[in-house]
Amino acid sequence: MNEDLQKRIQAALANPQNMGEMAGADSIGTVGNADCGEMLRLWVKFKQQDGKRVIDRASFQSFGCETAIAVASLATELIRGKTAEEALALKTEELAGELGPLPPMKIHCAQLVEGALRSALAPEKVEAKPALPAAVNAPTLLDSFSKPKEGGVKLTFLDEPKN
Ligand code: FES
Repeated sequence: MNEDLQKRIQAALANPQNMGEMAGADSIGTVGNADCGEMLRLWVKFKQQDGKRVIDRASFQSFGCETAIAVASLATELIRGKTAEEALALKTEELAGELGPLPPMKIHCAQLVEGALRSALAPEKVEAKPALPAAVNAPTLLDSFSKPKEGGVKLTFLDEPKN
């Protein structure tokens, strides 16, 4: 990863926006990436504005990957005030916002955020992936990992490869 991008990610992480679960959310989306083990959950709350149903706020939980956290922080700010359709029309690179172009090995981090957004806003269009643990319905992501049911799968995270 180039130094400029690393600096922009660190800047986003220095003051992450909208982290944490949201009580009373109107919709929740959770996605996982079986290759890197990252999971991300997004909560969305709507409001009425000028006769339209727009996103009032969004929040997220994620473990591990700095790029996904940075993108989620920026994306949850970006989608405020947009209708679900407008938010769904945003491209992956738009969600990454001021981080700028991501290197190929980090594009999936932004796609994870995009997937959680789609899962929250248009769940009927998100294809269920068998690799996603059944624990996605736990109240928080931490619950998903810390309270495995008997016979469940224990997830172990590996360090992200350094470039
Ligand atoms: Fe897999 Fe970022 S989401 S490394």
